[in-house]
Order: sequence, then C-alpha cells, then structure tokens
Amino acid sequence: MKITFTTAALPDSGTAVVLAADAGLGATAADLDGRTGGAVRRALELAGGKLKRGKAVELLCPAGVGLGRVVVLGVGAPAEAKRLDLEELGGSLAVKLKALGVTEASVAIDALDGLPLGPADLAVSLATGAMLRSYRFDKYRTTKEDDENGQDEVAGLTFHLGDAAAAEAAWSAAAAVSEGVRQARDLVSEPANVLSPEHFAEACRTLGERLGMEVDVLGPREMRELGMNALLAVGQGSERESRVAVMRWNGGPADQAPVALIGKGVCFDSGGLSIKPAAGMEEMKWDMGGAGAVYGAMAALAGRKAKVNVVGVLGLSENMPSGRAQRPGDVITSMAGVTIEVVNTDAEGRLLLADVLHYAKDRFKPRAMVDLATLTGAIVVALGHEQAGLFSPDDELAGQLIAVGASVGEKLWRMPLGAEYAKHIKSDIADIKNVGRAREAGASAGAVFLERFVGDVPWAHLDIAGVAWTKRDQPLAGKGATGFGVRLLDRWVAEHFEG
Ligand code: BES
Ligand code: MN
Ligand code: ZN
Repeated sequence: MKITFTTAALPDSGTAVVLAADAGLGATAADLDGRTGGAVRRALELAGGKLKRGKAVELLCPAGVGLGRVVVLGVGAPAEAKRLDLEELGGSLAVKLKALGVTEASVAIDALDGLPLGPADLAVSLATGAMLRSYRFDKYRTTKEDDENGQDEVAGLTFHLGDAAAAEAAWSAAAAVSEGVRQARDLVSEPANVLSPEHFAEACRTLGERLGMEVDVLGPREMRELGMNALLAVGQGSERESRVAVMRWNGGPADQAPVALIGKGVCFDSGGLSIKPAAGMEEMKWDMGGAGAVYGAMAALAGRKAKVNVVGVLGLSENMPSGRAQRPGDVITSMAGVTIEVVNTDAEGRLLLADVLHYAKDRFKPRAMVDLATLTGAIVVALGHEQAGLFSPDDELAGQLIAVGASVGEKLWRMPLGAEYAKHIKSDIADIKNVGRAREAGASAGAVFLERFVGDVPWAHLDIAGVAWTKRDQPLAGKGATGFGVRLLDRWVAEHFEG
C-alpha cells in the first residue's frame, strides 16, 4: 500500500474520507456538508445520529458539487482514543474501502477536540492500521475469482493535513515496523514444502544484506561441534537439516551488550514418532511463528535504524518421523550439559530452544533475553486466541512486556513458573524430561524447562501458540499469520533500551 502525506487540498474527484466525532463533524466534513447542501449531516442522521468509532457512512455527490464519493468515518469520543484505537480505526477504514471497491482514497485529517494525539500522529496511526489490516498472502492464487473477498485491497491512501512534513517524518519509522510485520507474515505464511530450515536461514541472510545486519548461519557440522544435540535431535528425522540463524543489528555503541530475541522456528511439526493426529496437522506449518516474529522484529529495528544492539537467534528445524528420527525414551545431552529424557518427540520446541537459549546466553552475554514460541496447546486451552502466555521470574521485565503488549494490541497474560512446576519435569533417568504431568499445567511445564537454560540473564518466554495465526479477522490482521510479537518487541526495545 502506498501512503502519501500532503498539504494539498482534497481532490475534486475520487473518494474522500472525512472524520466525524460524537460531538460533531471535523472541519472538512463540516465544509463538505455545506457544499452538499447538508448531505453529510443527513447521511449521519440516517445512520442513527452518531457513528461509533470505526463505523462509516458514504454518500455519492451529485455532479457539480466538485466531489466524488465521501466516506464519513466515525471516531467516537476523541478524548478516549489511544494510539491503538486509531490504528484499529485505520484498519476499519481499509475494510470499509475494500467493501466499497475503492482502491485509492484521500483522507482529510482535521484536528479533533480532545484527541490526545496531534494530526501527524493521527495520520500515521490511521496509515499503520490500514496497512496492517489490508495485508493478504495471495502469492499462490492464480485467479482473483477464487478469492473469497472478491474486491482488491486498498492500494493507496493520501493523507491531507497541514503538517504533512511531521507526518512524513514519523511515518518513516512506523512504516519500517509495519514492513517488519509484513515480512514476518510473508514468511510465516509459507507452506513447509517451500520454507525449509535452510530456506528460512537464506531469507535471514537476504534480509540482513538488504538492511545492514550481520547474519551468521550455523549448519549441522557447526552445531555438532558446539554440542547442540537437543536442537539436532529435533531435526534428525527430517531430510531437511536444521539451521541456527543469528542476525545482528548493531545500532548502538560497540561495547554495548545486546538485547537477545530468540525464536522457535519449527518449519513443520508432525510430532515426530510421537506423531500428531491427521486432523489439524496442516496447522503445524505455522510452528515457526516465533522465529518469524523475531525475523520481523529484526527487520523493523534495522529498517528504522534503532540506536541499540540487538541479536536475533532463530532455531530452525523440521520435526519428522523416519528411521533416523529420535525415539521416545532417548536421552540427549544438551549444549548446556543438562541431560534430557525425551518422553514425547512432539514436545520438540523446548528441546530446540534449550540449545538456542544457552547459545545466546553464552555467546552474547545479553542484557535481557525474550523468546517467542508456539510452544504448547495448553496455552491455547488456558487463554484461547486472545492473549499470549508470558512467563518470567523477573517482575520488572514482565511488567514492561505486559504494558507494551497492551499498547500495541498484542496482549500478554502472566502465567506461573516456580519450584512446584519444576518438579513436573523431573526424570527417572536424566536431569529433566521434556514433558510434565498429563493434563496439568502444560504451558508452565514447558516454561520451567526453558528456564533451566537461561542462567541469570533477565528472561521472558512468550508462548504464542494461540496467537501466531488467526482463523478470524482481527482489527489489525486478516485471517492467517498475524506477525504477533513484531510490534511488541520493537516497542519494548524502543522504550526500554534505546537512546
Ligand atoms: N507446536 C506444538 C504446540 C502447538 C499446538 C502450537 C497447537 C500451536 C497450536 C508443540 O510442539 C507441541 O506439540 N506441544 C505438545 C507438548 C506435549 C507433547 C507435552 C502439546 O502442546 O500437545
Ligand atoms: Mn510438537
Ligand atoms: Zn511444535
């Protein structure tokens, strides 16, 4: 989508979008009302007097008025609108325009009484929301007829406001973040026959070259030398070998320890020999959503040239059954030296992350470490698709992430860790086993397992199994990969580590 900001007057043809608050029309809407002999107010009355935030009415102007179509967009009570609400408003606008078959529109940005954001921020928020909401992954559609929505997505929005230059300046960072979300969604949407661990690592390299990041890829030989046996065990049944991709954005001083972002990238999770049932197995192509989010966050940070050092470490494997696959009952020695009894080969994410977390801690001595993983079905049982699970022994870090998540619409709910749960993963033969107790606190069992590998680095684990993709349209994401985590990580780094 092409976003433009201009000080020019609205064009006299095409589609114009104007804002209406509960308390009254914006200046441009009021002006158009005058020019159309009261048609804007009449349309509002027919719609019930006020428009709820995100609702819209449209009118077609008769020839001679010097206008085409006018879409009146409800803002509700401006004083109550936060940045996220305005982003979601931009999302609603994109949906409305698409339904009308409008692909290009001019949006009049007026100062609204009580709005906590200025016009430039209002324009940027609307642009962000429209951009995020109108994403589609249509690479594999050869005809439009099969597209359930029929209409094309909005291709261009022009925002008309006095301070177009300020909006332009703020947009350059916001656009980089939206672009990071898009990058994440593009990658996470790829089916597993296309996106292998090797291909994913290649994508990291390409991204790094484009945005000025150092990218290292560890192959099976290097991983064996490092002793990453837990990660290697996950991929050992697959024809497609595992990788670890390390992406470094060095926007801060050379001697500054980095923030580490860790992602579970299981390109396909069949369950391995502990194979999953056929129903729903196709969803396990999304099992690299954590790595996808880290990839997108790195794209966002590098894209907006964040003044901070950040390292993204992605564990990439495919979990398949075969004559070479790991078996239930196997005991492996992880890179950290912790021995693990593999009771269920379907609890593979924690095996892979055990080595990636240890490696990141050991090699980069990070200031803080956050991992994102589609780790457990249990978190979906607990929280549904509304929020991700947050696990952290660090109250301050947990508080930061919860607050930032709420502000970007990627909500986190804190779940417990602790000694009681650590008992659930005691093994009879090894230091720990990779499953907890049947039907008991499965998400916490996964999290306490990970905690064994983080040492004393401030750490949080986000179990995003319920939110990495969506089957229902959401305010800022249509069906499919959501890119959950990209905006959260970007904003968290911006608020707590930059500057
Ligand atoms: N990738 C799955 C978790 C998952 C389930 C993600 C549903 C998204 C939707 C993970 O690797 C897994 O299979 N976890 C098992 C763990 C169990 C064997 C202890 C699970 O949740 O059933
Ligand atoms: Mn699994
Ligand atoms: Zn998995």
